[in-house]
Amino acid sequence: MSGPVTYERKENIGVITVNNPPVNALSQAVRSGLSDCLKEGINDPAAEAIIVTGGGRTFMAGADISEFGKPTMSPDLNSVIFEYEDSSKPTIAALHGTPLGGGLEVSMGCHYRVANSKTLLGLPEVKLGILPGAGGTQRLPRLVGPELALDMITSGNPIPASKALKEGLVEEIYENTTHEELIDNAIVFAKNILVNNEHPKSRERSEKISNVSPSLFDNVIKKITPRLRGRKGPLRCIEAVRGAVDLSFEEGIKNERDLFKICHDSEESEALIHSFFSERMANKIPGMDKNTPLRPINKAVVIGCGTMGGGIAMSFVNAGIPVNIIETTNEFLEKGMNIIKNNYSATVSKGRLSQENMDKRMNLLTPTLDWDAIKDADIIIEAVFEEMNIKKEIFTKIDGLAKEGAILASNTSTLDIDEIADATNRPEEVVGTHFFSPANVMRLLEIVRGSRTKVDILATLMALAKKIKKVGIIAGNCDGFVGNRMFHQYIQQAHLLVQEGATPEQVDSVAESWGWAMGPFAVNDLAGNDVGWLIRKRHKAENYYEGKIYASDVADRLCELGRFGQKVGKGFYKYDPKTRKRESDPEVHKIIEDVRREKGVNTREISDDEILSRLHGALINEGTRILEEGHAFRASDIDVCYINGYGFAAHRGGPMWQADKIGVNKVAKEINNHRNADNLSWPESDLMNTLEESNGKLSDFVPDTSNPSKRS
Ligand code: CAA
Repeated sequence: MSGPVTYERKENIGVITVNNPPVNALSQAVRSGLSDCLKEGINDPAAEAIIVTGGGRTFMAGADISEFGKPTMSPDLNSVIFEYEDSSKPTIAALHGTPLGGGLEVSMGCHYRVANSKTLLGLPEVKLGILPGAGGTQRLPRLVGPELALDMITSGNPIPASKALKEGLVEEIYENTTHEELIDNAIVFAKNILVNNEHPKSRERSEKISNVSPSLFDNVIKKITPRLRGRKGPLRCIEAVRGAVDLSFEEGIKNERDLFKICHDSEESEALIHSFFSERMANKIPGMDKNTPLRPINKAVVIGCGTMGGGIAMSFVNAGIPVNIIETTNEFLEKGMNIIKNNYSATVSKGRLSQENMDKRMNLLTPTLDWDAIKDADIIIEAVFEEMNIKKEIFTKIDGLAKEGAILASNTSTLDIDEIADATNRPEEVVGTHFFSPANVMRLLEIVRGSRTKVDILATLMALAKKIKKVGIIAGNCDGFVGNRMFHQYIQQAHLLVQEGATPEQVDSVAESWGWAMGPFAVNDLAGNDVGWLIRKRHKAENYYEGKIYASDVADRLCELGRFGQKVGKGFYKYDPKTRKRESDPEVHKIIEDVRREKGVNTREISDDEILSRLHGALINEGTRILEEGHAFRASDIDVCYINGYGFAAHRGGPMWQADKIGVNKVAKEINNHRNADNLSWPESDLMNTLEESNGKLSDFVPDTSNPSKRS
């Protein structure tokens, strides 16, 4: 049989293999092939049992997400799974890679499951705003009990094969087998079970769903609600699993279907699917040959062992890449290394890292004062003070020591990569790697291309980002790159809103209720108000504010008083030293009053709608300017940036996606109104005007990215 699914017989066992690279997603052709091949196996008189497996790197990793939103094409996955469960010959799923979503659901429809020990099994649908819609919410609780099922389905996180074995999700696991060995083992397993002539159906199991405490579901709801930020999907997952306990299997399946449809049709799901594909799209560099060879990264050097340098070094060693950290004094080195050690120890004490793994990671870190460590490094990342002259000095020194082919990277968050590159004799090897604080935790990595940066460096860094568990986007070399350039406008509106009559508390609460992880003032306090202060001072020295609004008087005054934020216990708020809980501070309100009085502002009541419109309008306006200048490859890269680096809710899709959803013409009108009220803080965007007229979409705009270094 041709197509993505094939049937063959090995001795007396039929083997069905799915070959739909890269992840064997369950497209219509695969569903249809699974159904046809099962029939072939059942009709094959020499086959006594049937194994189903995935070719290539994984068992089926789920439904084909690109088919979502399109009319369902027959056969639907549920029917195929029932065919495997009702098969007259025993069906066995041989698992490897990542059996996820619909893939795991197919395996749960089989009578038995066996797996390679490295397999990760999960139902990640919640991360796409949906729920397992092919019986997963009904069969998983029957196999592993509702508690673990709830945990897996509401978090979307997979479990390792060893846990699946312990909990009864798989019958056998085989240590580190090749795919061929997995099939050989599955054949032996199949022959053994033939002796019993049993066809255990997950849907008929009831022992693990009897006597479930009624409080279980309420407790899970209570536990996850604070983290939902307005999301509904996880609650619907819980309702579906509750159906497995409270209803018959048939009623539970119907309940699951109804809830699936609600989720599938929701904006939450549309936004999360956009986020999923945007993250993968960000990897694609326009015009670059897919086969461009990548540079090996087997050793890194980080210069500077402060907060950023330490966090960057941790990201590398977490991925098994050895790092030398260079500092100017033993005292700085010791201080930085102690912070890293304490960070890891805290993770160990929370049970999220074993002592053995912590030791392994610490052993990959070599603190040193000796710059010769650079000589054999594949990448050198400078993470020192944000000061051009210091950076230039360091890059000249790196240039003199680094081997040919090494990548010379700066962690600058705003400075001109081309100017830094000019301090070397190899400007084409220089690039920006802008990590976000805390760098060992935050997922975003802005890869900043200078005007001469070689394209293979960009590709290498995108691959490296994935390896060190970051999400990379490529940004042009403008002031603040993508993220901070937009954030500057966003924060400016936050400051103006407060100057005009809102409070930091109101602004933060409106943003957080909408879905932001933290409001703008809370973010400033977390990141350190001194960081923005330093940039404002540089901007002032460079005459950046000429003809532009300056809205940060309150922030400046807080910095003058040393109120740098959480790290000193006070900023826009004061913080409980033990719990770090934020509280309003009358001293801040007095400063706000003083600034308003000195500036002669007639304060007014500001509505929550205006706050959202101005915060988001500022982001969208600047994002559109960045796009039209070619500093981002596509609108969705900007969404990836905001979701992974700035706490924009993934289930809201990102600022650019929001603009398209609301309608760019409508957003443009609101921005024009704001501009009419204050013509200094809303720079014009030609692209916005064009899209307003044409009723176009930002996601359809293809920028000219041939000149990545127009600083603006
Ligand atoms: N459908 C369509 N395409 C998919 C896909 C899916 N389920 N999963 C991955 N892909 C595509 C990606 O878009 C990417 O395409 P490009 O190469 O064109 O960029 C390619 O496969 C490789 O993906 P990754 O770069 O993510 O590869 P990876 O090796 O890093 O990760 C993975 C592999 C763990 C499977 C990861 O891709 C993943 O998590 N995929 C989503 C899995 C998922 O959510 N499954 C549930 C689907 S919903 C469902 O099944 C509903 C149901 O109940 C029936």
